[in-house]
Amino acid sequence: MDELTSRREAGIADALTEKVLQAYSEIDDVRLRGIVACLIRHLHAFVKEAKPTDEEFETGWTLMAEMAKFTGDERNEFLLFCDVTGVSQLVETINHVRPQSAVGFSGVGPFYRANAPKRKRGESISSGDTKGDRVRITGRVSDLTTNAPVADATLDVWQAATNGLYENQDKNQSDYNLRGRFRTNEAGTFELVALLPTPYPVPTDGPVGELIRLAKRQPNRPAHIHFIVSAPKYETLITQVFRKGDDIIDEDPVFAADDNLIGEFRKDNGQYYLHYDFQLRPGVSTMPKAPIP
Ligand code: BEZ
Ligand code: FE
Repeated sequence: MDELTSRREAGIADALTEKVLQAYSEIDDVRLRGIVACLIRHLHAFVKEAKPTDEEFETGWTLMAEMAKFTGDERNEFLLFCDVTGVSQLVETINHVRPQSAVGFSGVGPFYRANAPKRKRGESISSGDTKGDRVRITGRVSDLTTNAPVADATLDVWQAATNGLYENQDKNQSDYNLRGRFRTNEAGTFELVALLPTPYPVPTDGPVGELIRLAKRQPNRPAHIHFIVSAPKYETLITQVFRKGDDIIDEDPVFAADDNLIGEFRKDNGQYYLHYDFQLRPGVSTMPKAPIP
């Protein structure tokens, strides 16, 4: 293409972008109007840069139709796409800037269930017949700004079994196995027993799995336990705790594992222990919408 033709092409493309932006400029809600304009600008910039052929464009929207087939009440392939492209973690990072010394945010993930059983201090979240080593977890919840203990904070804890399945994906586990809610005492401390976490793969039977394979990425999430730590008048902390020394910590398929989310699981006389402290920032307490009722 000579220079004159490509300048003419760019001019036509830019004029089209402007016309489309104009067409969506009357949305009343200011925030929504801004987001839609931003989306159009970036989508158009993407097409101008990637210049997909007609066939590639068709592949793109066919792929989305395919992703919809893998999406329902118990699974969302679009969210998984956001996870494996780092978009979900980017949203966490932007919305919850915290000092590196404090435990960081990391996505709630697709397997959270609300209303986990309230358990007594020191109780196990695992049924007796669940295979795997146990870890006794102790720690303290404190105010990020003053270090004062946060009494009566709730820790909502959940994890996968050693077969890589959460209880709601697995007919052989009892309802709410490996889930529980605990409270901190006056000193802000808590204690519970969990399974020693083990790695498990993200779902790879859909289009996102194909993308992971094409990229030659490994599909296993490093071993982790999920926590939602909440208390009135504090911003709710949604996080995951990973195992120090896990050899795939830098290869998390969803880019959640990070230095400020690592706990030291120590073994003493055949028993695993983890001591882990959480910090809450004063703010508004909210709970995530549970993806699965
Ligand atoms: C998880 O947190 O367990 C998870 C997150 C994203 C995709 C799959 C699993
Ligand atoms: Fe998980």
